[in-house]
Amino acid sequence: MAQPVTAPTIRAAKGGAPLVMVTAYDAPTARVADDAGVDVILVGDSVAMVVLGYEDTLQVTVADMAHHVGAVARARPRAMVVADLPWLSYHLSTEEAVRNAATLIRAGAAAVKLEGGLVRVPVVRALVDAQIPVMGHLGLTPQSVHALGGYRVQGQEAAAASTLVGDARALADAGVFAIVLECVPREVARMVTDVVAVPTIGIGAGPDCDGQVLVIHDLLGLEDRIAPRFVRRYGALKADAVAAVAAYAGDVRARTFPSDAESYHLSDDVAAALGIDRSPSTRTRTA
Ligand code: KIV
Repeated sequence: MAQPVTAPTIRAAKGGAPLVMVTAYDAPTARVADDAGVDVILVGDSVAMVVLGYEDTLQVTVADMAHHVGAVARARPRAMVVADLPWLSYHLSTEEAVRNAATLIRAGAAAVKLEGGLVRVPVVRALVDAQIPVMGHLGLTPQSVHALGGYRVQGQEAAAASTLVGDARALADAGVFAIVLECVPREVARMVTDVVAVPTIGIGAGPDCDGQVLVIHDLLGLEDRIAPRFVRRYGALKADAVAAVAAYAGDVRARTFPSDAESYHLSDDVAAALGIDRSPSTRTRTA
């Protein structure tokens, strides 16, 4: 059995072979990701939008996240399971942040991810102190959608780019083992990747990061409503699924599903004792 991926493994991958991360929110998708050999499975708070039908990620709680982390962890993946700390679970006090992170660790995660830079340093330190590995998240941080004024590319001005680099340094100094960079110009992602000693994992941040992450429903084509520039679809599972369910519906309506071979039968003795006539002509239904 291959060795499980851990925070030190990821940390040591800086500058090596690109790291592969995808999201998963339940056991079947975790098994798909793990069988494909990804390094990290992120139980993202994107579960709110991708699976639960909310408009933003602000709607999920620690309990919601723990529910999905447990489902992913029960698939026993070799890949490292990282859980998003949801909005407001790490903003009020470091004690509360550690307690909430511990809930996700007890649910089966091996690390937590949180959004924000310099301002998060005390929380990162407290988590690391409690032996909880932390992944940072900079750039477009969806939990700040209202403060940012929408889902926009970040770090486009010189000052914003410099702040982002400073935030990345601060997170790395505080002890994160990797940093997600979301929706930032390629050049800014490159600057961050060059200055921090921990791996950067990009989503909409160009090819120069130490790794990449995509939402699994996007890459599989299960989500086909929105397609940001950075999403590459490797499947068309929504179309495949619609075709499969439509074929099933057609067979049910045409009475061609289930067939006799797909049915259970009484033994001859029991059928005879019940006086059931099983000659082929009596099996044909009239509509
Ligand atoms: O929640 C999520 O899916 C994420 C990724 C976009 C990195 O945070």
